[in-house]
Amino acid sequence: MTELRSEFPALQLTLDGKPIAFFDGPGGTQVHGSVIDAIARYYTEANSNAHGAFEFSRRTDATVSSARAAMADFLNAERPAEIVFGPSMTALTFNLSRSIGRTLSAGDEIVVTRLDHDANVAPWVALEERGAMIRRIDFDPADCTLDMDDLREAIGPRTKVVAVGAASNAVGTVNDVAQIAKWAHEAGAWIFVDAVQYAPHAPIDVQALDVDFLAFSTYKLFGPHMGVLWGRYELLDALPAYKVIPAADAPPDKFETGTPNFEGMAAAAAAVDYLASVGRRFGKPDGDGRRRAEIVAGMTAIRSYERMLVERLVAGLQAIPGIHIHGITDPARFDERMPVVSLTLEGHTPEEIARRLDDRAIFVWNGDFYAVRVIERLGLADAGGLVRIGINHYNTAEEVDRLLAALGEIAG
Ligand SMILES: Cc1ncc(COP(=O)(O)O)c(C=O)c1O
Repeated sequence: MTELRSEFPALQLTLDGKPIAFFDGPGGTQVHGSVIDAIARYYTEANSNAHGAFEFSRRTDATVSSARAAMADFLNAERPAEIVFGPSMTALTFNLSRSIGRTLSAGDEIVVTRLDHDANVAPWVALEERGAMIRRIDFDPADCTLDMDDLREAIGPRTKVVAVGAASNAVGTVNDVAQIAKWAHEAGAWIFVDAVQYAPHAPIDVQALDVDFLAFSTYKLFGPHMGVLWGRYELLDALPAYKVIPAADAPPDKFETGTPNFEGMAAAAAAVDYLASVGRRFGKPDGDGRRRAEIVAGMTAIRSYERMLVERLVAGLQAIPGIHIHGITDPARFDERMPVVSLTLEGHTPEEIARRLDDRAIFVWNGDFYAVRVIERLGLADAGGLVRIGINHYNTAEEVDRLLAALGEIAG
């Protein structure tokens, strides 16, 4: 899989002669060359508005259809009309929560967690102004896993929505979404899943998970700065959208306010096609050339390659005195984490570490990553938060070793 790195143009750059090691995928991945080509192709061959009576407009309509079909394959959605595009996961989640808010009665409950990015908390907390009661689920700071007993207890007859992350952007924990979906449905509630940090690392099957809504960002998936919301068709259809009169009344259009980002849709489809090509090249697709099977094979190959890198990273970090990893560190439990590894180093602020790594052309993020409650709960709000290392499939073992050597030098 290491040869894929050469297909990402930005990763070929150097800084002061040093190759760039990009470990900020959780903040936004680099894009594959085919994604850049797709944007250029849209602008040179199809640029126009949708639903017109001329050729470029028909090509734009085809771009939109292809992008929905690609995302439906990526998620195993029942149909492309369940795919809503938007500017970001956050914007789409606010859009959906506003719609759901119109259906709530005072005293209805919404469950959120302290392990989530604020994009999956604030849109739900905003519904307090409609009389919703918010119940917050804690996590165990020792290994950063959700308190599942507390979660189960919090879901009751008044629960309308359970909002959970598939994986934490701060500490990498993977949640048991299928189990939480079961509990939500037993109580007659909907489950909304933030899959932003899950989508780039493993296959997603919304039908097998049996969830109701799921959102992620294509710019963390080797694609453009955009968001995707999937919802069960009948739910999207029934929910009241905030829309202008001429916009279509049916999903997904009724949730896509204004003229959408068509070049982004072209690019998002290219990103999915790239992941299918990873399946053809590095996996064993079991379908007869079906893109869904190729995507699953690609994401499965990515999951196992990244697992090898995360094992190397975590073992290397544990050998550096003064480093504390926040999250799961036992390799036997690595199915429960994504390759998003966060740490603190005694005697050094996260910002200082990120800057000193930048001097070596190694890019990592530091701070709270908008996972404000996670950082508070870990007691790091006044200490500058965490240093976060995000591994993607274009990273290599050599880059991990370079990062470990640099952290070893910084630690002294
Ligand atoms: C877990 C998680 N959820 C939501 C978001 C927000 O995504 P967007 O920037 O598309 O709104 C992020 C961004 O970092 C994230 O990591």
